[in-house]
Amino acid sequence: MNRYLWRILKQGCMLLVIIWLVFSVLKHFAYVEEYGGSKSQHEEGSVNGFKKGNRDEQHTGSSNAIPFMGPSNKTKQEHVKMKKDKKKQIEERMERLKRICKEFKDSYEYKHPAVTTKSIQLMQVSLDKHTLLWCSVLKAGFSNFRDTFNKLKAKRTILKIDMKLSHKKITNYTIRLLNVRNPWERLLSSYWDRIMTNHKPPTNTRNKWGRTMMAKYHNLNPKKIKYDDINVTFTEFLQYIVENPKHNRGHLEPHWMQYFESCKPCDVPYNFIVKTESLTEDAGFFFKQLGFNKNPFGDTERKNRAERLEKSYKDVPSWIMKRLITIYYWDFRLFGYDIEPPHVV
Ligand SMILES: *[C@@H]1O[C@H](CO)[C@@H](O)[C@H](O)[C@H]1NC(C)=O
Ligand SMILES: *[C@@H]1O[C@H](CO)[C@@H](O)[C@H](O)[C@H]1NC(C)=O
Ligand SMILES: *[C@@H]1O[C@H](CO)[C@@H](O)[C@H](O)[C@H]1NC(C)=O
Repeated sequence: MNRYLWRILKQGCMLLVIIWLVFSVLKHFAYVEEYGGSKSQHEEGSVNGFKKGNRDEQHTGSSNAIPFMGPSNKTKQEHVKMKKDKKKQIEERMERLKRICKEFKDSYEYKHPAVTTKSIQLMQVSLDKHTLLWCSVLKAGFSNFRDTFNKLKAKRTILKIDMKLSHKKITNYTIRLLNVRNPWERLLSSYWDRIMTNHKPPTNTRNKWGRTMMAKYHNLNPKKIKYDDINVTFTEFLQYIVENPKHNRGHLEPHWMQYFESCKPCDVPYNFIVKTESLTEDAGFFFKQLGFNKNPFGDTERKNRAERLEKSYKDVPSWIMKRLITIYYWDFRLFGYDIEPPHVV
């Protein structure tokens, strides 16, 4: 009897082991397939260059490069459809922002006195018969818009908006524009353009922050570093941001300041969000809405940056990545960007 039970138990155990083995083999294949799938999607390239990051853009299938809205070989129906898709996409961005703002308003970051009491600077742009309000985020399509506005002879005025602002005064501007970009891309772009590029005449960002970073991580006297010799690694640049998140009189430098702080998207009711990842189409639609028949924006070529992004973040220590995620958490969430560090994709 005992022996009989023992045998059943043994067989049962063996059966369990076999089931477990089969299961893990299946799981392994499932993983490979999933990984392979996302990878090929990743490499496929798109207008975004970082497609996976744009969750809200995936639904609308915009990744199939809606081309420039100006003259092309498209039929009229195709143009109408494109316009409808873009309109829907922009509406989805607004809806998402509204939804995540509810969460954000309960957060520590939103209630932080440095954020709530600080006034922000918005641009008033007088263009044709329109006067619009624009939160011009640097390293996120700012210069393209600025150049286009200049080309159109628009008048730009900086407005200081404090948080006791009258809602009426803001909604008096019927077009309230905000430009954003995937925060991982923006950081990389800021590093190359604002710290590493030897601009002449000297730029304040490289001269001040590049120098400070170099002095700190290379143990040098900042006064003895020549402007031309400023050279820090991407990791050092990021480390400086996470170790000194309040380095500019309590705030980050404007080229990498968070959107939630520089534009207050949950207090200022923006109604037009353009993304760098789809800048040409977004801007084309924007100017069409303003009544321009010919797109003044021109084509901005977007290269596939996914690979470069992955390479640049690959060697950044995970403790820095984690802290960056904390610092930019709400920027990722509010605008539907993938929070996952690029090298994990
Ligand atoms: C438009 O048509 C011309 C002439 O048929 C062709 O050369 C061109 O490549 C087309 N452009 C696009 C974007 O399809
Ligand atoms: C709203 O805009 C109009 C014209 O653009 C201006 O005359 C008026 O003073 C503005 N109202 C407020 C409250 O700013
Ligand atoms: C910066 O320093 C690195 C490593 O020391 C070097 O390989 C690179 O060429 C330098 N870059 C510039 C622009 O000086």
